Amino acid sequence: MSINDYLMRRAAEVEEALTSALDGWGHIPNRLREAMLYSLQAGGKRIRPALVMTAAAAVKGDSGDAAQAMPVACAVEFIHTYSLIHDDLPAMDDDDYRRGKPTNHKVYGEAMAILAGDALLTHAFGLVAGAARCGSVAPDVLLAVVEELSLLSGAAGMVGGQAADMLGEQGVTSIEELEYIHLHKTSDLIRFSVTAGGRIGGADKQQLDCLALYGRNLGLAFQIQDDILDVIGDEGKLGKKTQGDVEQNKVTYPYLIGLEESKAKVASLTQEAKSAIASARLAEPDRLLQIADYLLRRDH
Ligand code: FPP
Ligand code: MG
Repeated sequence: MSINDYLMRRAAEVEEALTSALDGWGHIPNRLREAMLYSLQAGGKRIRPALVMTAAAAVKGDSGDAAQAMPVACAVEFIHTYSLIHDDLPAMDDDDYRRGKPTNHKVYGEAMAILAGDALLTHAFGLVAGAARCGSVAPDVLLAVVEELSLLSGAAGMVGGQAADMLGEQGVTSIEELEYIHLHKTSDLIRFSVTAGGRIGGADKQQLDCLALYGRNLGLAFQIQDDILDVIGDEGKLGKKTQGDVEQNKVTYPYLIGLEESKAKVASLTQEAKSAIASARLAEPDRLLQIADYLLRRDH
């Protein structure tokens, strides 16, 4: 199966699970449920959940069984979706379109968009904890996953990176400051996806270190590619307006080091990510290597 077909299959599995992930958790006010599902079901590449499932399979060597990793895969997509809803708010990037549709606050209003984000974030932790009840992942593994999810999506992780992004705005002048922002606001959740999958698959310490390095470099490359696509991407394919960074005078990789050097940086980070996988002694490393190349080539 080609990597495109493989990722489409994983995305379809995740989408099915996402739709039922709110069932059986008690009454949710209709409008809030609608706002949550609006963004959860708006499409997207589902690359983070795919990384959870693929890393688990890579370690364990059973590329067919995605069920074990599914609750954590859904949790990471819940966190990612909340972050997009909040990132699009007028107080943050103030965007009207996301994944080819009007942003959440444009449809449901700011208050409900904030609450939908809050609810997605909170529910994510319930999903991870709930996986213990299914018995498919050992409680000590899930405990480590919960702690890492909190760390990498919280104040010292994704939220911290977003805060630095907001605080920095035009003031960022060095590549080090920009790398800090990118590593946290984007790379941390991608790194989490990879290491959480690794833990579920039973990775040892050395494998986890390699998976973390893969996730770090892949995540940084992913955000630089995002910056590049904001300059040269196709609005139809991206499902949102381009040139947003330029309009907001955002300091990005293309702004600081130019387009060609940014592309070279994405390529070298991808190579470093693949090298980390090569030294991890995984049962089935191929899909992780292919995902790195797939993201290098991505146009949306
Ligand atoms: C696009 O992902 C998103 C990013 C590149 C991450 C940008 C970082 C944030 C929005 C952090 C915001 C944090 C807070 C706390 C508000 P993607 O290309 O995978 O999107 P898709 O799921 O639509 O494909
Ligand atoms: Mg932003």
